[in-house]
Amino acid sequence: MAKIAILPGDGIGPEIVAEAVKVLKVLDLPLEMETAPVGGAAYEASGHPLPDATLDLAKSADAVLFGAVGDWKYDKLDRPLRPEQAILGLRKHLGLFANFRPAICYEQLTHASSLKPELVSGLDILIIRELTGDIYFGQPRGRRTAVDGHFPGADEAFDTMRYSRPEIERIAHVAFQAARKRGKRVTSVDKANVLETFQFWKDIVTEVHAQYPDVALDHMYVDNAAMQLVKAPKKFDVIVTGNMFGDILSDAAAMLTGSIGMLPSASLDKNNKGLYEPSHGSAPDIAGKGVANPLATILSAAMMLRFSLNQPQAADRIESAVGAVLSAGLRTPDIWSEGTQKVGTREMGDAVVNAIAKTT
Ligand code: NAI
Ligand code: MG
Repeated sequence: MAKIAILPGDGIGPEIVAEAVKVLKVLDLPLEMETAPVGGAAYEASGHPLPDATLDLAKSADAVLFGAVGDWKYDKLDRPLRPEQAILGLRKHLGLFANFRPAICYEQLTHASSLKPELVSGLDILIIRELTGDIYFGQPRGRRTAVDGHFPGADEAFDTMRYSRPEIERIAHVAFQAARKRGKRVTSVDKANVLETFQFWKDIVTEVHAQYPDVALDHMYVDNAAMQLVKAPKKFDVIVTGNMFGDILSDAAAMLTGSIGMLPSASLDKNNKGLYEPSHGSAPDIAGKGVANPLATILSAAMMLRFSLNQPQAADRIESAVGAVLSAGLRTPDIWSEGTQKVGTREMGDAVVNAIAKTT
């Protein structure tokens, strides 16, 4: 019996996770689900966004299904107490280093993209973002009085961009292995022309590529990658990049597909244990209104079944059910257009559950 930690979080988190849990239950798999508070919900209950009990549950589980955390009302808290620290803490303690962000444009939603339909019709790309290194975690960092630079004596702030060889090697292996199961092409995105860290990145990705002669590799500077993503996104198959470039490019890619409410994500460790969550945040502007799109979370549950729980058929069933529901014309407000039927969070979840029930 596989164990799943269910961490709904705050904002729209509890609403969307409830729908994904309904979907998992109707599949009737040998799964045990246990729920714990995280983020703002945990802060309210116990004064910390990632309580020990929640972390212990996540560590003991085979996979974590996470909703979302964060609300403007916590912006004034000290950084370690903010809800977003929970997700950083989980990534760190679970050893999650590979973030998978697929950008898939459903045929039924082609018109919802910010690009022309012909540019995104059939789009299916995968962005793999390294999660443990880069300028987000490099030391030293801080504030000080400048001793040199353009304004000696002025206040300044600084961060350190940094990657180690093993960090780059393991994410490169993950990218080549993922590409093997798809279009067999990897684009490694860097800024090797300016940054030593990313010249090192480029050199090591090239070295690792020697072990994957069946996969094509090209290198692209991040500024060009941003341009190509909006010019001809279908040219990509797998994109692999560092923490910061991946953060930005994956959100840009999200908009190609119409709505961030449609996009799942997975963060994996070296044993394919993972944390699965929608790509979006806690959407405080629509929380509690029953209008959030639950499909990103439901599709994250499908990724969980495929990557961590070895249940690919069950994952296929969820993804087909989502396609069927979209084909039937059901739309939450974020993807609604003239001539389709506007539904709320719960109706959307129920429709997916019914579509799955029909395929047994
Ligand atoms: P957001 O993704 O929460 O919202 C951006 C926009 O997309 C909003 O207009 C929202 O209503 C809409 N949206 C998001 N998810 C949707 C859904 N499922 N259905 C329909 N519409 C949806 O990003 P934002 O506003 O930048 O951040 C809000 C809070 O979420 C912040 O506190 C932020 O730190 C946190 N956050 C948390 C993440 C996580 O839990 N992993 C990731 C990103 C942000
Ligand atoms: Mg982001």
